[in-house]
Amino acid sequence: MRNQFQFQEWVHSHCARTESALDGLLDSAKTNPSRLHQAMRYAAQGGGKRIRPLLVYAAGELGNLTVDEKKEALDSAAVALECIHAYSLVHDDLPCMDDDDLRRGRATVHKAFDEATALLVGDALQTRAFEILANAHSDPGVCLSMVSALAAASGSRGMAGGQAIDLDSVGKSLDMEGLKQMHAMKTGALLTCAVKLGGIAAQLSTHQMGHLMNYSGALGLAFQIVDDILDATADSQTLGKTAGKDAANNKPTYVTLMGLDYAQTQAKELQEMAIASLESFGSQAQALKDLAFLVVNRGK
Ligand code: IPE
Ligand code: IPE
Ligand code: MG
Ligand code: MG
Ligand code: MG
Repeated sequence: MRNQFQFQEWVHSHCARTESALDGLLDSAKTNPSRLHQAMRYAAQGGGKRIRPLLVYAAGELGNLTVDEKKEALDSAAVALECIHAYSLVHDDLPCMDDDDLRRGRATVHKAFDEATALLVGDALQTRAFEILANAHSDPGVCLSMVSALAAASGSRGMAGGQAIDLDSVGKSLDMEGLKQMHAMKTGALLTCAVKLGGIAAQLSTHQMGHLMNYSGALGLAFQIVDDILDATADSQTLGKTAGKDAANNKPTYVTLMGLDYAQTQAKELQEMAIASLESFGSQAQALKDLAFLVVNRGK
């Protein structure tokens, strides 16, 4: 059982590990074309909570990987996820999508560089993610499963599909089912994939994966509900991105549909559901349990 201090240490060391893996696996800013590589690094290395990498590492702890296997497969999976996530943010901020100037406390990529570069940063981070995963493990079967899972989570049935629903919903009111589906796709799919990649690398059983999927389904929804709550309640400086953007862009969210109190209660319930689904792992799943708490209580 880890105490709060030990969990903070765990987060700190695994965030540092993510930064170092990103630095090693992204092309240097001097690589030709240097402006593009510089912008890719700007997008991927400019802060962020690194929740997806942390989920990869925490799920990977459930298996019996050797130190070397852990390093290779989990670091690659963590970086691949973060590349896809960073690309999704760069595109999400473009004028044709949410039109945001601020991300992770600094100018968005299309503001710091230009729109065409931001498009290409997204393209190139996405393909780099798959290149990294294709070389993530000595067993080609493990690589293939990881590539397949990340492709499904990122595409039209996952993140990109959820973003399409999000854009199509501007000015409309979704019902609860529609809202849940949008959240599960635009945000939940990549968070679930992070847990899945950790589980694949650790070669967990189908039964164990089932519990992990229940955990990540609840966590993914909770994550976006909290993002919606913070958009409506926190300030831009705390968020590192423009506060009040959902209302300004007329987006249906948990807060607009059900109100702040309901959204908060729902996030808490999902946190408890996520933690309960890890029961059979015992203390080995402590990091995943602590991460569920962190996701729901961030910003408090
Ligand atoms: C923001 O994700 C976009 C959503 C999916 C809600 P994060 O809140 O994980 O952003 P960073 O990586 O910490 O900046
Ligand atoms: C974005 O949702 C989800 C992505 C796939 C990037 P939001 O549009 O709410 O994310 P933020 O609030 O800009 O980070
Ligand atoms: Mg958006
Ligand atoms: Mg946005
Ligand atoms: Mg948001």
